Amino acid sequence: MENNKVIIIGATSGIGKELARIYHKKGFVVGVTGRRIELLEKLKADLRTNISYVEMDVTKNSAIGNLETLIEKIGGMDLIIINSGTGFINPKLDFEKEKVTVSTNVNGFLAIALFAFNYFNKKSRGHIVGISSVAALRGGPAPAYNASKAFISNYLEGLRFLASKRKSEIYITDIKPGFVDTAMVNSKKVFWMATPAKAANQIYKAILKRKKHAYITKRWWLAAQLYKILPDFIYFKE
Ligand SMILES: NC(=O)c1ccc[n+]([C@@H]2O[C@H](COP(=O)([O-])OP(=O)(O)OC[C@H]3O[C@@H](n4cnc5c(N)ncnc54)[C@H](OP(=O)(O)O)[C@@H]3O)[C@@H](O)[C@H]2O)c1
Repeated sequence: MENNKVIIIGATSGIGKELARIYHKKGFVVGVTGRRIELLEKLKADLRTNISYVEMDVTKNSAIGNLETLIEKIGGMDLIIINSGTGFINPKLDFEKEKVTVSTNVNGFLAIALFAFNYFNKKSRGHIVGISSVAALRGGPAPAYNASKAFISNYLEGLRFLASKRKSEIYITDIKPGFVDTAMVNSKKVFWMATPAKAANQIYKAILKRKKHAYITKRWWLAAQLYKILPDFIYFKE
């Protein structure tokens, strides 16, 4: 199989872990990253495969060197899914906490996305997928999180713009999940919550179709249209 080398940034848990399972099952050569190395070891043992992994903190300068090591380990890269992300409800707006969100979701994302774009540009082909969020569409109760996801979606569109000018086969996919039942959502009082497996399956299909945008699950497209136009007097209501 050609174009079969996928790297998933942030695959120790949740959506990223399920994506790793799917790509492995579909016969891809899979490389995964995360800070919790013991969970990557466990994933490898569970899948009983030669899945490759490297420890990586996207906020550290070492992240790109780690990514280069992983690319070497799996013999190249055709597709990268930048799934790593974090976010907090931070009622006191503690600067250090807001900064963690921005360094992970903005600076970390940027470092990986830039490297990947330049890598694919040299080959004139490749596919970058960013895991943004429905939260990208408006400000919300976790200001740094929503703003960081807006950065991701907007930046991906910029990369798509640049790719279109270069007559290269570089595809860019912006994934916007709604609620997915992972450690990131520590409340059950939310609606339309998908299992990580269902979300990952829909993400896999959207990537296969080289979609520019996808809401996960699909019904979130409808919620997103309402969310965008909801007047402030309703949106800001307690
Ligand atoms: N769950 C939802 O409802 C939801 C909705 C919309 C969007 N999303 C997005 O989906 C993506 C996956 O989240 P999830 O819900 O599956 O939650 P999760 O289980 O907490 O997964 C987050 C992943 O990101 C990695 N990560 C976090 N900080 C990192 C760092 N500094 N360096 C490297 N990797 C880092 C984590 O690995 P380590 O901790 O091992 O490093 C983990 O693998 C995130 O981008 C999130 O914003 C989630």
